[in-house]
Amino acid sequence: MQDQQNKEEIRNTLIDKYKAVRKASVEMCRPLSGPEYRLQPVEEVSPPWWNLAHTTWFYAINILRPLGLDVPFTGKYEYKLNSYYHFQGPMLERGRRGLQSRPDNEEVYDYRNQVDGQMRTLLREATDRRWDDVAFLTTIGVNHEQQHQELFFTEIKQIYFADARSDLIRYPPALIPQESPLAGGQSRFLPITGGDFEFGNLEGDWGWDNEYGLHRQHLEDFLMMDRLVTNAEFLEFIRDNGYGQILLWLSNGWGEKEKWGWHAPLYWEQRDGEWRQYTLAGWRLLASDEPVCHVSYYEADAFARWKSQIPGQVSRIRLATEYEWEQAARTMAEPIESGNFIEDHRYHVVPARPNSTRRIRQIFGDVWEWTASHYGPYPRFHPFPGGLVEYNSKFMDNQRVLRGGSWATPRDHIRISYRNFWHPATRFQCSGIRLAGDP
Ligand SMILES: [Fe+2]
Repeated sequence: MQDQQNKEEIRNTLIDKYKAVRKASVEMCRPLSGPEYRLQPVEEVSPPWWNLAHTTWFYAINILRPLGLDVPFTGKYEYKLNSYYHFQGPMLERGRRGLQSRPDNEEVYDYRNQVDGQMRTLLREATDRRWDDVAFLTTIGVNHEQQHQELFFTEIKQIYFADARSDLIRYPPALIPQESPLAGGQSRFLPITGGDFEFGNLEGDWGWDNEYGLHRQHLEDFLMMDRLVTNAEFLEFIRDNGYGQILLWLSNGWGEKEKWGWHAPLYWEQRDGEWRQYTLAGWRLLASDEPVCHVSYYEADAFARWKSQIPGQVSRIRLATEYEWEQAARTMAEPIESGNFIEDHRYHVVPARPNSTRRIRQIFGDVWEWTASHYGPYPRFHPFPGGLVEYNSKFMDNQRVLRGGSWATPRDHIRISYRNFWHPATRFQCSGIRLAGDP
């Protein structure tokens, strides 16, 4: 009896989560005009229509189709909706998503409704024999959709930025509580004692395959900055010709910088002697005490190297490894709930609050923090089964790990053990810098 009750609770929790995530995707697109759904300013930015349809396709092919419950739309447009799953068949080139007139926006919403109808029936009625598979795949599906919700906000920012009318404001930020100016500006390195520690998804929440297996790792004593690097600090690097000092840069980083003409973070511009920044609330003067955002790994790494040249108490300043970051987040950080996430409707970073606790601030939310770690498998790693082996593990090559979530991440999507990964030259994601060091 008790067992049956627990099963029902689990089932209802998943149904509620499915409905909430599906609704959030529709809500975030509500402010868009029809044409805004269709734009793809650069290859890595998918148009919003595609996001909405692709996340729906994911449930259709992984869950509904094997059970004979799929809808005809999936087969008709599958070629356009497949992102990178070669196991599922051929796909449209990523850079051509913005050139498609079909499916139109109405068809996409209709597709979402059809799949939701099938999914809700299945989630309610799946037999015990089928339930474990359905629950496992649906959980992956909703987490996948939440990842695309974050992508949506970084993509729509690029879409508006590329538009000549880039002062358009569709996502007005919620008011930010006023602190005294620069109150959070002071920063310090906090010492963290080394030793042998366990890593991975120890908290036992649901996790991606890349957060397992759990394993031990030795850390030396290290230092962690108690807040993120600010715009004012990054401006000092620019004014000291940081972008021109070849000895600060990794070889590949220097190559990317030269190729793309980087001289400041993405969305920064100097006009009439003043630095401005493009945000989802339009152009505005650069705020000194906000964390720097939209930098590549290469810029983060060069900044740390530059900082290390300045004489001080710390023998070497650098980026943290993902293990150091995880240990700091597990033992020294302010709680996840205190972070700046998408539900706060700020659509932007916020300055650090004053530190009265000797805890590490801003470790969750605001910006994903580049770590020095290459993205690879943990010991005893087992990728998801079947076609989903393509979800994470095939990207364990030439990518760096980022941790902590950003202002665009849903709060219930982030965990201490969460491993994000991007190519080190990526700048359109909400990525920033936390310094670490050797004592
Ligand atoms: Fe996807």
